[in-house]
Amino acid sequence: MKGARVLAWGRAVPDQVVTNHDLEKLFETSDEWIVQRTGIKERRIAKPEDTAVSLGAKAAQNALTKSGLKAEDIDLIICATATGDYLFPATSCLIQDKLGAINAASFDISAACTGFIYGLNTAYTYIASGQFKNVLVIAVDLMSRFTDWGDRRTAIIFGDGAGAAVLQACAPEENAFKSFYIKSRGDGDCTLYVPNVGNQYPVKAEDITAKPTMVYMDGQAVYQFAVKAVPDALEKALAKASMVAADIDYFIPHQANYRIIESAAKRFKVPVEKFICNIDRYGNTSAASIPIALDEALENGTIDPKQKHKLAFVGFGAGLTWGACVLEF
Ligand code: UT7
Repeated sequence: MKGARVLAWGRAVPDQVVTNHDLEKLFETSDEWIVQRTGIKERRIAKPEDTAVSLGAKAAQNALTKSGLKAEDIDLIICATATGDYLFPATSCLIQDKLGAINAASFDISAACTGFIYGLNTAYTYIASGQFKNVLVIAVDLMSRFTDWGDRRTAIIFGDGAGAAVLQACAPEENAFKSFYIKSRGDGDCTLYVPNVGNQYPVKAEDITAKPTMVYMDGQAVYQFAVKAVPDALEKALAKASMVAADIDYFIPHQANYRIIESAAKRFKVPVEKFICNIDRYGNTSAASIPIALDEALENGTIDPKQKHKLAFVGFGAGLTWGACVLEF
């Protein structure tokens, strides 16, 4: 079996900043309530010209440039998204075209906020099997396009963004990935979902105005799920890697709610500072939150590749899905 390493990370977020004070003008809420309950102060919201393809391609190009590879060197593009440009074709195919990655195969992964971990696991498996050498993993979501901007229970948490990683085959002794754990539980399908799109809802003229296609989220139920899913995934991935939480230098959790992150730190008895957190500036960018946080941490020097930090990613989301990955980077 081959090993895999990460050559580079990248990210792209929209320029438009929407603060909690901006939301106070849309519905009854307050900056204080949002900060206390979620840790979010502001988020980036896509402008009309931004799409999953344009943001995803920007993040991918950013990672590709840092990797030193050319677009033609990429063998496989995996895009994790729940908010792609179309039902089909896949967002990954359209990004392939934008990059000029003419030698790649491309497909999308639908695992909502856990999508990046599912995508990374898939990329690693293709590389370990020897089928592909250079794999580009992209995670992009424009949750704002499916947000009801009158619903204070959901509109406060989401933001838009994209992240990417370039993986390459290497010798087994250089393998960066120590373990993966991914899981799903389909009985939670109506806890967090977008109704009225998909084959169950063939479009009839009268439906277009009557049936909104906005995110429905039972926030309390998702919260209860998340505070169990995060430790479950981390425990399983750590055990597979023959490690304990104290061995990890930095945890990079899905940025959904600062209280969920605090609860995980408490559970594992590690200082919360070991959990990389940028939720205050971006909100919950769904599948993109982990690679955005990692790329920022590399840029500001918190994570230094020279020190071979041991990292743990953990995510959860609609499906319900959850998962974790332990790696050295
Ligand atoms: O990445 C995908 C996964 N998603 C998540 O991880 C989300 C997990 N859930 C959460 O983060 C939290 O459930 C929320 C932040 C979404 C909501 O916080 P909460 O503490 O669970 O609030 P709640 O929905 O239980 O509402 C509590 C009270 C309610 O008032 P009453 O009915 O008790 O009088 C709400 O109406 O807070 C009220 N409320 C608000 N007040 C001011 C709900 N949203 C707001 C708001 N501003 N934005």
